[in-house]
This record gives sequence, structure tokens and C-alpha cells, in this order.
Amino acid sequence: MSKILIINGPNLNLLGQREQSQYGSKDYNYLTEICYEKAKELNLNLDIKQSNVEGEIVNLIQNSVDNYEGIIINAAAYSHTSVAIRDALDVFKKPKIEVHISNIYKREEFRHKSMISGVVTGIICGLGINGYILAINSMHELLENENK
Ligand code: DQA
Repeated sequence: MSKILIINGPNLNLLGQREQSQYGSKDYNYLTEICYEKAKELNLNLDIKQSNVEGEIVNLIQNSVDNYEGIIINAAAYSHTSVAIRDALDVFKKPKIEVHISNIYKREEFRHKSMISGVVTGIICGLGINGYILAINSMHELLENENK
């Protein structure tokens, strides 16, 4: 069974409370539940971690190199600023999917640039929390194709 990790960055623990017009009304628990359910359905072993701290996210990525087959990451605000998270992701040479709940290109200009897009396999953005489900499905296909 492939092991994959979802990493959620700062303030995503506040889903349902913050800017519902951008992020919807469902809370963080609901998000994790639907992700675990989808992973189970696809026979994937999923862990989900959330951190508000940049260095902790770097550590999570570094520790994933030997422990996970794929990473799905919503680095939240750090997506726009963090060279450290980008460099850590660059070391992880397996499938990586960047997710954003909102369409970052429809929002303030400072959100239009993601530091991590250049080092990931693919990007899903603007489709709400369903983006995580799409990412798990895509990760499943990427890993299946690798093992063919
Ligand atoms: C986000 C978009 C970021 O610009 C923002 O800072 C977030 C969440 C998203 O999922 O749409 O916290 O990554």
C-alpha cells in the first residue's frame, strides 16, 4: 500500500472560520475526514499534518524522503514566500501535488506567484476543498503508473 502525506500550511486549521467566500464553510476536521475516506477507497495509506510554522513544514518534507511515496501540499501563505519550502520539496524526488482551495490568480497580485510551483508535478487550484480529493485521485494514478 503506497504511503502518502498531505501537508497543510498556516491558518488552514481555521477553515470554516476564515474568509468563507474564498475557502468555504466546511471546517478542517471535515476536510481531513473526506481525505481519509478517499484514500481508504483508493487503498492509499494517508497521513495528514498541519503546521503554522515554516521550519516545521521543511522538517516534515525532509522526513518524508524515506517515508512517503508522494506529497500533496497546500503551503498556504508560505507558497508565496518560502524559498526554504521550495528547496525542501526539490529534494523530494517523487510525485508532489500543490493544492490551493481558492483561485490564487483571481486574487491579490501577491498571491499570483507561488515559489513552489516550479518544483511540483502538478497544481490544483480554485476548486475548493474538492481540490484535495482531485489531488488524491491524481496521486493514486501517478503512483499506479509508476508501478506498471
Ligand atoms: C491558499 C491561498 C493562499 O494565498 C492563502 O495564503 C492561504 C490558502 C488556498 O488554499 O487557497 O492560506 O493556499
